[in-house]
Amino acid sequence: MDSAIERVLLSEEEIGKRVKELAEEIRNDFPNGDLILIGVLKGSVIFVADLMRAMNINVTMDFMAVSSYGTSSETSGVVRILKDLDFDIEGKDVIIAEDIIDTGTTLKYLYEYLKARNPRSLKICCLLDKPARRKVDIEGDYVGFRIPDAFVVGYGLDFAEKYRNLPYIGVLKEDVYKK
Ligand code: PRP
Ligand code: MN
Ligand code: MG
Repeated sequence: MDSAIERVLLSEEEIGKRVKELAEEIRNDFPNGDLILIGVLKGSVIFVADLMRAMNINVTMDFMAVSSYGTSSETSGVVRILKDLDFDIEGKDVIIAEDIIDTGTTLKYLYEYLKARNPRSLKICCLLDKPARRKVDIEGDYVGFRIPDAFVVGYGLDFAEKYRNLPYIGVLKEDVYKK
C-alpha cells in the first residue's frame, strides 16, 4: 500500500465487481446501445475505461474537461470548461460518467450545460457519492458507492494530481493534505 494512504476504502476487487453491476444496469436500460458516454477529465478516466468495456453494447466515448479544484483540496465553486465535446449530442442518449459527486458543483453545472443541447436522454453515472458534502441539488442515476466524508484518492481520483493510478480507493493520510 502507498505510504500516503491511511486505509483502503474500496479494494480493486470491490470496485471491479461494482463497475460490472453498473454496466449491467445501464445495458438493461439501453439494450439497443448507441449510447454516448461522456467522461469528465481527468478523474473519470479509469472509471470510464472500465465501465465501457463491461457494457457489451455500442457506445461511443467523448470527454469534457472541467475543473473547479485546480491544485487545491477545496472546490472554488467556479467551474471552468477547458475542453468541450467533439460531437453533437442532440437527440442522443447520453450518460455523464464521473468518479465522484462531492459538493455537486461540477455535475450540476455540466448537467445543465449538456441538457441545453437537447439530448434525447441525459443520465449521470458516478462511481462514488459523498452525500454529506453536497451543496447543490444533484443526484446520480447510477451510483457505485455512497461513501463517508473522507479524503479519498485512487482509481482516477487525485490529490494535487497524484495517486490517480492506485488500483484501489484509499483514504489519504491527513498529514499529506494538511501540509
Ligand atoms: C473532482 C472530481 C469531480 C469533482 C467533484 O474533479 O473528479 O469531477 O471534483 O467535486 P464537486 O462535486 O464538488 O464538484 P477535479 O475538479 O479535482 O478535477 P480532476 O477530475 O481533474 O481531478
Ligand atoms: Mn473531476
Ligand atoms: Mg481532482
